[in-house]
Amino acid sequence: MSNLAYDDQAEEGASHQDVAAMQALRPVPRISVQAFCETESVAGPIERAAEDRRMGKAHLKVHMGGVATAIEFYQSAPTPNLIILESRAEPGEMLEQLGQLAEYCDPTTKVVVIGHYNDVGLYRELVRSGVSEYVVAPVSMADVVSVISTIFVDPDAEPIGRSIAFIGAKGGVGSSTIAHNVSWAVSSLFKSETVVVDLDLAFGTANINFDQDPAQGVAEAVYAPERIDEVYLDRLLAQCAEHLSLLAAPSTLDRTYDFDPEAFAGIIDIAQRSAPVVILDVPHIWNGWTKNTLMKADEIVITATPELANLRNTKNLVDMLKRLRPNDLPPKLIINQIGVPKRPEISAADFAEPLGITPMATIPFDPQLFGNASNNGRMLGEMDAANAITQQIAEMAHVLTGRAEIKTKKKPALGDLIARFRRKK
Ligand SMILES: Nc1ncnc2c1ncn2[C@@H]1O[C@H](COP(=O)(O)OP(=O)(O)O)[C@@H](O)[C@H]1O
Ligand SMILES: [Mg+2]
Repeated sequence: MSNLAYDDQAEEGASHQDVAAMQALRPVPRISVQAFCETESVAGPIERAAEDRRMGKAHLKVHMGGVATAIEFYQSAPTPNLIILESRAEPGEMLEQLGQLAEYCDPTTKVVVIGHYNDVGLYRELVRSGVSEYVVAPVSMADVVSVISTIFVDPDAEPIGRSIAFIGAKGGVGSSTIAHNVSWAVSSLFKSETVVVDLDLAFGTANINFDQDPAQGVAEAVYAPERIDEVYLDRLLAQCAEHLSLLAAPSTLDRTYDFDPEAFAGIIDIAQRSAPVVILDVPHIWNGWTKNTLMKADEIVITATPELANLRNTKNLVDMLKRLRPNDLPPKLIINQIGVPKRPEISAADFAEPLGITPMATIPFDPQLFGNASNNGRMLGEMDAANAITQQIAEMAHVLTGRAEIKTKKKPALGDLIARFRRKK
């Protein structure tokens, strides 16, 4: 009987005001959503929501089983952008179960709870513990779409995407190659939709590295700023892998590429509203729009090779970025192409010391691995998943999406050693 009653309400809910309310909702971005339901009456509306046109880009999967099933599931799987949990538990028990689940949740994952207790105290406690919304069952399809929309599309909502800008301290240091490989790793490891924007309009290599030849890309967007919205951006993206798309550079010299400082701001903002991770492949140039792009990025990664000019340039970039972004963490540093035969090099420790930054990765020179990958238009992970460099790329994907911290290979300090000896006694 209850199923029928809920369904009635769902149908009714989707008819009058809710349809009107849903008309105003913008399409939901490319997010991944997993729902864990205890009753068909909640699973049904969520499944119907998945079919709504506004949810066309989102990946939504409904599992039967509540919080306990979710805990088991996420012990071995990455958490999506949004988890919807139905729980019939009474407030105290629910909070305890959610606390256990939190241990397995990525910090960026949002959680919506559908409960069966209309309890203001519970609502407050859930919101305080980081739950985005608490909805009391029964729910309609429209409720589900609008809750998701409020979290991810609302003009007041934070753009869902983190933008990560990659720039080289010199040309040819491997900044683009690493940017593309990290993008691929993020999209394949975390099943998180990732958009790569190749900002090197004249010489960009993302199209070669991903073996793509799209007719349109970033140039169409930057020359038609008045047209750019999520729908237009979608048409310009080339699909590179299941969760990875590319806004490719034309890589032609028919025009010269002089832009206003703000030229890419709108495109990047739209991209950030449509995918959780946006990787900006910034060319090694210093002008108004590259400076502006770096200034606004959520995270910056500088790639350098271990030579003096690279160190000088990195130092200048780090100092400038500190001035431009006083309230942000310093950029991340990758020292790349270590061990080129016969080349005198600055050691990683000496390179990092004047910068005051622990490198996120130090990557050896491996012309065979990199050469084979780029000649075949494949990513390192596709060529050789077990390679140590591929593993480093995966670690960087974890760090840059907030899933891990930079590993320090610091030797134990004297204090640590003394403490250890003392313990032995
Ligand atoms: N660790 C490495 N070992 C060998 N070759 C590398 C390494 N990193 C990058 N490369 C190669 O260096 C070249 C320049 O890389 P690219 O990413 O285009 O540099 P940038 O974007 O900094 O100009 C590419 O051919 C790339 O395959
Ligand atoms: Mg490049």
